[in-house]
Amino acid sequence: MTKHIDRHISAFKDELKKLYGFKPGYLFLDLTLGDGGHTEEALRSGCRVVSFDIDEESIKRAIGYIKDFQPIIFDDRDEYIRVPKDFNWLIIKSNFTKVTEISKRLSLPDFDGVIVDLGPSQFQVLSEGRGFSFSGNEPLDMRLDQTLGVTAADLLAVLNEGELFELFSMADESYAKPIARIIAKQRLITPITTTKQLSDLITRIKKFRTEGRIHPATKVFMALRMAVNLERENIRLLLPQLPNLLKKTGILGVISFHSGEEKLVKDFIELCEANSILSAINKKPIEPSDKELSISQRTRSAKLRLAEKIN
Ligand SMILES: C[S@@+](CC[C@H](N)C(=O)[O-])C[C@H]1O[C@@H](n2cnc3c(N)ncnc32)[C@H](O)[C@@H]1O
Repeated sequence: MTKHIDRHISAFKDELKKLYGFKPGYLFLDLTLGDGGHTEEALRSGCRVVSFDIDEESIKRAIGYIKDFQPIIFDDRDEYIRVPKDFNWLIIKSNFTKVTEISKRLSLPDFDGVIVDLGPSQFQVLSEGRGFSFSGNEPLDMRLDQTLGVTAADLLAVLNEGELFELFSMADESYAKPIARIIAKQRLITPITTTKQLSDLITRIKKFRTEGRIHPATKVFMALRMAVNLERENIRLLLPQLPNLLKKTGILGVISFHSGEEKLVKDFIELCEANSILSAINKKPIEPSDKELSISQRTRSAKLRLAEKIN
């Protein structure tokens, strides 16, 4: 029997509804559908929504949660689909980096608002067999998109010690060097292919050092997940496409959970401001309210940046 995983708690759900001003006819692009919390909020406010996700399981779950609305589904491997002009909810199974190409292919109109909610959903993290969680013992996979070729175990096998050090450092792991060293040594004896093997190695290194309440393996697991799914590269490819998808005065929002991603978003918005393309709505990122934190601790590192299209 597959284990039950509660629905992902969407970050900034109340704030987004207000800040975007969802209303009937509003055209909303949710580039990270996940368990569908943001999409559902928009649909229930009368918006018309286009939702992307790269993960088939997540799409199935979102449809299961949002039962009152019937989506049209498009897979980017499909040759052709006719999208009625008055569609209500369109789901696109694709990497969001293809959003411009797909919008053109499907003749989608410009949007009133776009949201990108980065990182994996709770469902993905807690799903058995996907290798995101250090609490179980499963293959080190970590692919959000099952068609990708390289898993986290592959990276641990092929990256040299210096590359592993760089990778873990990018996730602000203070023990990047000894962790890279122990992985390079250990894999000479036996390949590191399971979450437990990796988590045990990290715990061995960090035995006497604590970092608040987070598990010692958190940052290394995050670094591997980001590398397997090319998360930073995907954001870099996506950001420059976003202003062109918006109507004038349309709103762009990005929720990030990591300082490196947050900086990419901040720098991008500043560049667009300098070129009179976007105007930042908030100079400092919005952080979760106490109410939100009381519902979900996962959102503690969430940061929301918003900008309006001015040209
Ligand atoms: C944090 S979850 C979104 C949660 C969602 N906002 C909600 O309220 O339930 C991020 C989702 O984005 C998807 N995703 C991550 N990278 C993607 C990419 N490059 N293209 C499309 N979807 C992606 C993941 O599969 C995951 O389902």
